Amino acid sequence: MPQIEIKSINAFYEKLHVLKNIELSVSKGEIVSLIGPSGSGKSSLLKMLVGLLIPKSGNIYLNGNLVNFNNQSDLRIIREQIAIVFQQYNLFQNMNVLKNVCIAPTKIQKRNPKEVNEQALNLLEKVGLKDKLKSYPDELSGGQQQRVAIARALCLNPQILLLDEITSALDPELVKEVLDSIRLLASEGMTMLIVSHEMNFVKEVSSRVVFMDEGSIIEINNPKNIFEKPKEKRTLDFVSKILKEK
Ligand SMILES: Nc1ncnc2c1ncn2[C@@H]1O[C@H](COP(=O)(O)OP(=O)(O)OP(=O)(O)O)[C@@H](O)[C@H]1O
Ligand SMILES: [Mg+2]
Repeated sequence: MPQIEIKSINAFYEKLHVLKNIELSVSKGEIVSLIGPSGSGKSSLLKMLVGLLIPKSGNIYLNGNLVNFNNQSDLRIIREQIAIVFQQYNLFQNMNVLKNVCIAPTKIQKRNPKEVNEQALNLLEKVGLKDKLKSYPDELSGGQQQRVAIARALCLNPQILLLDEITSALDPELVKEVLDSIRLLASEGMTMLIVSHEMNFVKEVSSRVVFMDEGSIIEINNPKNIFEKPKEKRTLDFVSKILKEK
């Protein structure tokens, strides 16, 4: 049984048909990357999975259970099981790093503060921010803020992690650290959906790659084939352009 099953999903922003008949199944422990031009709907697809964009038609199944987006307890369940790290990290500006990481696990998940604190310290160490525990977001670089956001998502112990452009603000040395954490998470059975413009990253970590264009999934393929032998001309045009820019 897939962990997430997306069936014929259509979603709109007012008149803009942003997700067109999306079909995608993701198994536990898979790392699925979404690539495609700016505006193709990658972030929207992730937002839809956490209930921030309600589909007009189609179904989502989480561990085989149909998600009813109009039902508060279903929304609570998906938000508990699926954590998202955005392109903009959305940290709480009035809380220091440690507090940013601990607040949801203690206040929303009502977990033991001491245990959460310990986990947060481990995670912040893992992302290289042990010396920034008391700093506020506006005292951090973009890359540092992004890593706080990653630690904050992981501290929720999600089953599924959605990552939207998480490496774009990181310098190469830190990209490697993040990649290492991601590999570790994958080996621990974490399912991930990753949006990235970093094609090397995508090639290296993905089980499968989804190419989107204008709100549709054009092709799903393994990472080798999508870059070297894509099935669709639109995919080829996109990957050749991206690889040429590098
Ligand atoms: N909140 C919103 N309200 C209205 N339109 C939106 C909203 N968010 C995104 N859009 C539009 O939906 C389309 C898809 O946007 P989305 O952010 O999903 O693209 P993307 O593939 O993630 O692009 P990028 O690579 O630039 O992040 C775009 O045309 C965008 O302008
Ligand atoms: Mg985006």
